[in-house]
Amino acid sequence: AEPDQEERLQAAFDATIARRDRIEPRDWMPDAYRSTLVRQIAQHAHSEIIGMQPEGDWISRAPSLRRKAILLAKVQDEAGHGLYLYAACETLGVSRAELTDLLLAGRQKYSSIFNYPTLSYADVGTIGWLVDGAAICNQVPLCRTSYGPYGRAMIRICKEESFHQRQGYELLMTMMRGTDEQRAMVQESVDRFWWPVLMMFGPPDAQSPNSERSMAWGIKRNSNDELRQKFVDMTVPQAKALGVTLPDPDLRWNAERGAHDFGEPDWAEFAAVIRGEGPCNAQRVAHRRAAHEEGAWVREAATAFARRSAGEGGR
Ligand code: ACO
Repeated sequence: AEPDQEERLQAAFDATIARRDRIEPRDWMPDAYRSTLVRQIAQHAHSEIIGMQPEGDWISRAPSLRRKAILLAKVQDEAGHGLYLYAACETLGVSRAELTDLLLAGRQKYSSIFNYPTLSYADVGTIGWLVDGAAICNQVPLCRTSYGPYGRAMIRICKEESFHQRQGYELLMTMMRGTDEQRAMVQESVDRFWWPVLMMFGPPDAQSPNSERSMAWGIKRNSNDELRQKFVDMTVPQAKALGVTLPDPDLRWNAERGAHDFGEPDWAEFAAVIRGEGPCNAQRVAHRRAAHEEGAWVREAATAFARRSAGEGGR
């Protein structure tokens, strides 16, 4: 584009953002806006797909047919979320195959939380309650993100996530009404997941290199610390109703701020997990790679079938 044309395009883009209107795939956008979206949406999509593993590990060991049916449906929903997000990302000009290669090469991230193991069935409940609860907190504002296809994908995802959150809470509530041993399992699970869940929101604002620009572009609508605070405030009364203790001695209501004070997550642990040194990083990526390789024949067959159908008049 000519310099003055470029300026006009930039001005139109800026005006759309300022109106809090949507940018659509065919609109002009700055290269850095596009690459930031690809980075965030791809990371989000990968998280949904890798996130099937910790809970998927319990499908064959669910305690009843009812729990198994619920868990199967939930894990399938996560696959669906990954697919809508890959599709949203494809509108920016990168294919799902490229994104998968980047994930497997360790060049794109996925959420830190999925690098922790699931050690008991209570973890299925805790993931629904806390992990999906945190995901909702982070994702409801993303329904108003500035990029149209991403925001529209988030609407359906959030509806399904809120069902996931409730099924987790219901599972934990059932266990809390059970035996002492079951109550201890729930508490142990909450103790393990609490701090890693707080890390899902990302580094503190002062150490978040992307936040300021992503917020100026309307990609993110809230900062990492704002959402973390909102999640803590939302979760405390739920923990009380459930009868579990959140493992933070510094957690208390601050009447002056009208919010809870809480302790600092271990940011060194967070950095290590992101570097690939969490308890399950290697296992998660190896499993994803094996599933991708074992699925090659399905992709080839589907491509051959599509080609043949097109040759026969698109049937
Ligand atoms: N796990 C892994 N990486 C993380 C995490 C996390 N919990 N939090 C931040 N990071 C990464 C960022 O991707 C960024 O790395 P990069 O620049 O190499 O891509 C780096 O740490 C610095 O963080 P920020 O500057 O704060 O990054 P950003 O502005 O992208 O904010 C956030 C991070 C809040 C996760 C944002 O990307 C987001 O809202 N994403 C959409 C939600 C999402 O991905 N959810 C997935 C988990 S929920 C679920 O699937 C159930």
